[in-house]
Amino acid sequence: MNTIARVFSYSVGRKLIMAATGLFLIIFLVEHLIGNFLLLKGDGGAAFIEYSASMVHNLLIRIVEILLFAAIVVHVIDGFALFLSGRQKRSQRYAVRNKSASWTSRNMIVTGTVILIFLVVHFYTFFVPYRVIGTDATIYDLVIEAFSNPYYTAFYVLAFLFLGLHLKHAFISSLQTLGLRHLKYDRLLQIIGTLYAVFVPAGYALIAIYIYLKTA
Ligand code: HEM
Repeated sequence: MNTIARVFSYSVGRKLIMAATGLFLIIFLVEHLIGNFLLLKGDGGAAFIEYSASMVHNLLIRIVEILLFAAIVVHVIDGFALFLSGRQKRSQRYAVRNKSASWTSRNMIVTGTVILIFLVVHFYTFFVPYRVIGTDATIYDLVIEAFSNPYYTAFYVLAFLFLGLHLKHAFISSLQTLGLRHLKYDRLLQIIGTLYAVFVPAGYALIAIYIYLKTA
């Protein structure tokens, strides 16, 4: 077995990879949110279209985007692998449930699966027509069309709720796994984690609801 395969096969290695890719996605979510706030500018989408086009034509951003997709794929595969190996171990030990663990930490696979379903819908709506197939519509047109549908908007808001639950545990857990937690700053990191898990999904929900109300 080569070194990379060995790292993947051990649960410690898997957890490290989960934490590193997760932290990368946590940072991406802030950048994506700031970019999406341009949708609220009230300029007919001009700033958002310009921002989106600048992303397509920037080589560095294209490279980061490839890393982003790779991080999502690895994070999902590793997440399911960890869940399945954990389930196997629990069944061998007659399923002793850790009652002290929080709901969010015990249900990462549930909240993560909802986010995965959201991402498939999300890519199908924006990334595939805009970047893969090609369309005459602008990216702003696609956003307006999508969020004028109340079911689509409601699905997004629900998905953001699950995103918040996932992030609530993910933030502090990824720092812990990467050894970045420090007793002295622990309370502060917990607060930052909670604020992040509340305000980032809330920001996304605000954008979705605002566009829906504007088009209703
Ligand atoms: C109201 C909320 C959101 C809106 C309006 C939105 C909008 C968009 C749009 C228009 C694109 C295509 C951009 C382009 O190709 O130039 C995109 C791409 C993407 N979105 Fe979102 N998004 C939202 C929330 C999210 C969330 C919560 C996640 C992650 C859980 C996410 C992950 C991604 C990813 C990974 C891409 C592809 C990478 C990229 O093109 O930057 N989005 N989003």
